[in-house]
Amino acid sequence: MAILAVLFYVFILVPSALAAVGGAPAKSSSDSFTPPDNYLLDCGSSEQTTLDDKRVFLSDQSSREYLNYDGKDLQVSVDKADVPLPIYLSAKVFSSEATYTFRMSKAGWHWIRLHLFPISSNDANLQQSKFTVVSDSLVLLHEFSPGSGSEWVMKEYLVNVTNQQLSIKFTPVKDSIAFINGIEVVSAPDMLISDVGNTLVPVAQTSGLTQNSFQTLYRLNVGGPKVEPQSDTLGRTWEEDRQYLKPENAGKNVTVEPKVIQYPNGNSPLIAPPSVYASAMEMGDANTVGPNFNVTWSLDIDTSYSYLVRLHFADIVSKSLNDLYFNVYVGGKKAISGLDLSTVAGDLASAYYKDFIVNSSMGVNSPLKVQISPMAEAAGTKNALLNGIEVLKINNSVNSLDGEFGADGKSASGPSRGSVAAVGFAMMFGAFVGLGAMAVKWQKRPQDWQKSKSFSSWLLPLHAGDSSFMSSKNSSLGSRKSAFYSSTMGLGRYFSFAELQEASKNWDSNAIIGVGGFGNVYLGEIDNGTKVAIKRGNPQSEQGINEFQTEIQMLSKLRHRHLVSLIGYCDENSEMILVYEYMSNGPLRDHLYGKDLPFLPWKQRLEICIGAARGLHYLHTGSAQGIIHRDVKTTNILLDDNFVAKMADFGLSKDGSTVEGQAYVSTAVKGSFGYLDPEYFRKQQLTDKSDVYSFGVVLLEVLCARPAINPALPREQVNLAEWAIQWKRKDLLDKIMDPTLVGNINPESMKKFAEAAEKCLAEYGVDRPTMGDVLWNLEHALQLQEASLKGKSEEENNAAATAASPTTVTPGSTTDTSSDDRPGSSSAQSKNQAEVQVIDEHSGSAMFKQFAELNGR
Ligand SMILES: *[C@@H]1O[C@H](CO)[C@@H](O)[C@H](O)[C@H]1NC(C)=O
Ligand SMILES: *[C@@H]1O[C@H](CO)[C@@H](O)[C@H](O)[C@H]1NC(C)=O
Ligand SMILES: *[C@@H]1O[C@H](CO)[C@@H](O)[C@H](O)[C@H]1NC(C)=O
Ligand SMILES: *[C@@H]1O[C@H](CO)[C@@H](O)[C@H](O)[C@H]1NC(C)=O
Ligand SMILES: *[C@@H]1O[C@H](CO)[C@@H](O)[C@H](O)[C@H]1NC(C)=O
Ligand SMILES: *[C@@H]1O[C@H](CO)[C@@H](O)[C@H](O)[C@H]1NC(C)=O
Ligand SMILES: *[C@@H]1O[C@H](CO)[C@@H](O)[C@H](O)[C@H]1NC(C)=O
Repeated sequence: MAILAVLFYVFILVPSALAAVGGAPAKSSSDSFTPPDNYLLDCGSSEQTTLDDKRVFLSDQSSREYLNYDGKDLQVSVDKADVPLPIYLSAKVFSSEATYTFRMSKAGWHWIRLHLFPISSNDANLQQSKFTVVSDSLVLLHEFSPGSGSEWVMKEYLVNVTNQQLSIKFTPVKDSIAFINGIEVVSAPDMLISDVGNTLVPVAQTSGLTQNSFQTLYRLNVGGPKVEPQSDTLGRTWEEDRQYLKPENAGKNVTVEPKVIQYPNGNSPLIAPPSVYASAMEMGDANTVGPNFNVTWSLDIDTSYSYLVRLHFADIVSKSLNDLYFNVYVGGKKAISGLDLSTVAGDLASAYYKDFIVNSSMGVNSPLKVQISPMAEAAGTKNALLNGIEVLKINNSVNSLDGEFGADGKSASGPSRGSVAAVGFAMMFGAFVGLGAMAVKWQKRPQDWQKSKSFSSWLLPLHAGDSSFMSSKNSSLGSRKSAFYSSTMGLGRYFSFAELQEASKNWDSNAIIGVGGFGNVYLGEIDNGTKVAIKRGNPQSEQGINEFQTEIQMLSKLRHRHLVSLIGYCDENSEMILVYEYMSNGPLRDHLYGKDLPFLPWKQRLEICIGAARGLHYLHTGSAQGIIHRDVKTTNILLDDNFVAKMADFGLSKDGSTVEGQAYVSTAVKGSFGYLDPEYFRKQQLTDKSDVYSFGVVLLEVLCARPAINPALPREQVNLAEWAIQWKRKDLLDKIMDPTLVGNINPESMKKFAEAAEKCLAEYGVDRPTMGDVLWNLEHALQLQEASLKGKSEEENNAAATAASPTTVTPGSTTDTSSDDRPGSSSAQSKNQAEVQVIDEHSGSAMFKQFAELNGR
């Protein structure tokens, strides 16, 4: 009997136990995938190329049938270079528009991969190229320029093909060229991305994902080594995660044998291969870091876009089921509370993933944080784990994945709209401050302000966003292990000294648009006509080159639509030069008084104030956190072509004394008379509330259109803050406000605005609102103004309709649609609604409700 029992055990139990560990999911038909469409081109190559993973890339000759190009045929190649695949060694060069067209045998998801390496060649300078790539109507790259000293880069997209053809069009900008080293257009399985994702704020499900296109920004094998394309079920690359993990010792890597990973119901190795699920980060040693903490991955993103964040989990740490529960946060919001892998995945070492949609309307900032932490209250083991992260960028409303413009030239965000758009690197005029306080004086160049209207897109090629290669071969700044993702964490473009010398016409004194203790700011032209502001540090500046580099590194973390963008820098021969986007409309002050520029309507003034407030709010609370501007005033709020406001000239004083190196923390009071926080003056203690005070003065300046200090006036009127607040208390501000506004301003809107200014100017910092609160008040003032505009336009409409009713309306006339574009029309309203959500986070839901009511009226 005993023997029988043993035999029973051996023959029956053991196999099934084995099956439970490794065999069960075995090989099913869903585990492998043969792409119905599989176009692989080695552009510019004289022969076909077979990669290690056996994939064959066609030679240029054999690719010709897909290409429609009338220009001169130019191919370039090199024998050897530091590239991951041989397909980078040759390139095809286009001097005018060129289109590849591929016949699609099956609709659904397809990868598009573009391989780009700007080969140095005598025939063509690929590093100087600048071009746009559009697939059907989807913008893949907008005025992409590799820049000098660039390395290879691979851009991967995922598109849902619905037509029988897919085209990829390369368009060089005027007088420039385009190039491409390799193209892949390959089918991907339908199940890869489903139509439904989860939102965080509010937590809900959203559908319609398959209508979008995606670009891979991050694909990380958490806790494990890089997974090469040949080891992935779909030829993807999974990078290591270590460099994004902060602090690094918070997490501890664990691995198991990939063969133990199971794929229960509906999941498949096509989602992520076993090697991804077989490694993870769990909580680091609780004894060194404390029992309750977050393990955090920080990923830089451009917050003007939405993202699909996919997190992969498999419990490879627990000894038994129902022991591990933990919290997952995405973008600082709780994404999964008490994730119970035993239940959702059904077993240990079982694959599970979840998709989240995030965007800046949900209060998600850059860097995007993915965090895990144990549940404080849970009974089981205090642990948490994560196996993989994917971040895919989602096309914007004008169907672009790069910049804010669609293939038809439409912009995703109208002029001075709040939704964040261009990415750039924030600027900081204070980089050269050394010890002294400084004053940048913008000198007006009237002809430029006028001309600028014709340059409406000069800014575009510049944002150092993810279309540029962010590398400079010899800069001590870049750490460029792989250029694959470097675009999202770079330091801007590297300029040679000669390049900038030429751009500024050999530092022509007529090109000076700003001067200060640190050196001069020159208006220059790069890339045949793109205007930039070039800031050249004084050689005598006390600030050393090391500080310069530390500061650029810090500055490059600050990215915001409402901070003037840093385009690049030059540190050749110990020069300290920063290149910024050129703000063609100059400082806000010039548009308020003293320059005879056209009058700014109230709505536009509000939008400018909101933009500036956003920039400050970001400095105070955004990714680098706790940066105090220290010199908020109307000359430091610059306006671009579209009158989008951007903060310039912020000092690098971190809150308290958290900045290493005393050089940045000046004990001398910095700031400008008339804007200075009295409390800061008294206590010499800097807080972000000092900026709030100065911003209050800015608001009054905007309302009253006069300088903060005007010594020519009678004594009681000299200081705007004191004087205006007296009138505000008497509720008579309309007596002293800009006369051009009288009658064009909604009284409620003005009241809200004046209240915001008054709160900012409270005597004590603790009584002043945060920039987030100020922002909310300004948004509210804008809503009130727009609501009144809407009322007006409706009246006009009604009047017009009554007058027009007897006449017959021509069929097909566009009156209906054009009325939709009016400010305050329903489309404008819904935009506002989205903006309200941005600030909801800072203001609480009660206030939000108020807004909703306002909108619902
Ligand atoms: C692609 O989009 C079409 C229609 O927009 C949709 O019917 C289809 O399901 C999508 N394909 C996939 C694979 O989701
Ligand atoms: C953790 O990662 C390090 C470095 O990548 C590696 O050397 C080590 O083997 C890993 N440990 C485990 C348990 O996988
Ligand atoms: C972990 O991060 C989340 C979101 O950022 C935060 O709310 C939570 O308090 C953090 N937990 C700990 C223990 O720091
Ligand atoms: C962000 O996502 C929410 C929810 O899906 C959506 O309502 C909102 O329009 C999105 N905002 C932007 C700017 O895409
Ligand atoms: C992406 O583009 C498609 C097609 O133009 C559009 O339907 C969709 O709304 C866009 N996605 C977003 C998030 O705007
Ligand atoms: C790059 O740096 C190396 C070492 O720092 C130096 O030897 C070399 O000359 C530099 N190359 C250029 C082009 O400046
Ligand atoms: C700039 O223009 C000059 C002359 O028109 C031309 O030779 C040069 O190639 C152009 N450079 C770029 C980067 O477009």
